[in-house]
Amino acid sequence: MRTQVAIIGAGPSGLLLGQLLHKQGIDAVIIERQTGDYVLGRIRAGVLEQVAVELLEEAGVADRLKSEGLVHDGFDIAFDADHLHIDLKGLTNGKTVTVYGQTEVTRDLMDARQKAGLQTIYGAQDVEVLDFDTNTPKVRYKLNGQTHEISCDFIAGCDGYHGVCRASVPEKSIKEYERVYPFGWLGLLSDTPPVQEELIYGNQEQGFYLCSMRSAQRSRYYIQCSLADKVEEWSDDRFWTALKGRLPEHLANNLVTGPSLEKSIAPLRSFVAEPLRFGRMFLAGDAGHIVPPTGAKGLNLAASDIRYLSRALFEFYGEKSEAGINHYSQKALARIWKGERFSWWMSMLLHRFPDNSGFDNKIQRTEFEYLASSEHAQRVLAENYVGLSYA
Ligand code: APR
Ligand code: PHB
Repeated sequence: MRTQVAIIGAGPSGLLLGQLLHKQGIDAVIIERQTGDYVLGRIRAGVLEQVAVELLEEAGVADRLKSEGLVHDGFDIAFDADHLHIDLKGLTNGKTVTVYGQTEVTRDLMDARQKAGLQTIYGAQDVEVLDFDTNTPKVRYKLNGQTHEISCDFIAGCDGYHGVCRASVPEKSIKEYERVYPFGWLGLLSDTPPVQEELIYGNQEQGFYLCSMRSAQRSRYYIQCSLADKVEEWSDDRFWTALKGRLPEHLANNLVTGPSLEKSIAPLRSFVAEPLRFGRMFLAGDAGHIVPPTGAKGLNLAASDIRYLSRALFEFYGEKSEAGINHYSQKALARIWKGERFSWWMSMLLHRFPDNSGFDNKIQRTEFEYLASSEHAQRVLAENYVGLSYA
């Protein structure tokens, strides 16, 4: 088989790239190791920057997002008993974010791909990326025991943190930067009305908490937990009691509890690989970088990579210019590092760090007080939260 772009991974990155390329008449095949149902079963974050919404519109997959997504003009930060409202819209000349689950973004992209009759190979095993240092790269995989090969012009490594693409790059050609945080997030999804209309991020003696939502009837909550915790040790009751204990009183009284639809523990990590281009192979999304979820940037950074990469490929095929592919890595990384910085900053502000000294705790508290007292500081936060322009 032959295609122009072989995309490895059918998560949001791979699917969005496939859709944008299709709109420009560029041929692509997606190779995914899981089933479609498995991909849709993963519950991930749910806050979209305005520029990400615009990109999904460009891809022609924003109808449901526009009708069902919740536009948020602001959110709250609580620190111990104190409370701060961040007026995103007022601080950014009218910009907002949209709360819409990543699972739904993925579903919309899968539906659009199916409707357009585009090819996705699910359940591919032993995927290998070959000869990407030449102009004739190949992807080899097994399906039902049979080996297949796809020759292509480019390979897009959209295969997430544990994927094969980054792992196939010779060690001397790649540099990795990493920070692992000493706690995790325990998340719970339930069909209960959210505790308030806007998100609230909190830092309290027992640790971080976040009250988010998927709709007026579906809530998503997180609490900071120990990395040694197992999800089986957290009954729904134990979760609700812990969350209630961390919430400010007026919200604790408002909290509606119910059975969990999903419950999971995620570690927190910052990670960046450099560069993101290796000859005829590119890395995009979680394959190239990870952020802790505190800034809600994971999916948004994946979207910005895909925007830069799609433009680079349009230029290559449309204008016969290699300028875009030559600049992809540098352009994408410039925005990624800003997302990394912001996600690190939000994480440092909002968690209880088990090994913090008294000095560290005073600085953290002062960071909150400064933010609460300075509109400039709030503007910096808001500008980053709604999303930096793609430039
Ligand atoms: N061969 C084929 N597919 C693979 C392989 C492989 N060897 N390894 C992984 N995959 C698939 C995974 O099964 C997954 O479906 O690649 C896909 C990668 O999807 P994601 O992990 O969702 O990554 P990405 O599409 O970049 O989305 C980034 O996900 O983790 C969140 O916060 C992150 O929101 C961001 C988004
Ligand atoms: C979510 O709704 O899952 C969510 C929202 C904001 C975050 C992280 C996760 O920062």
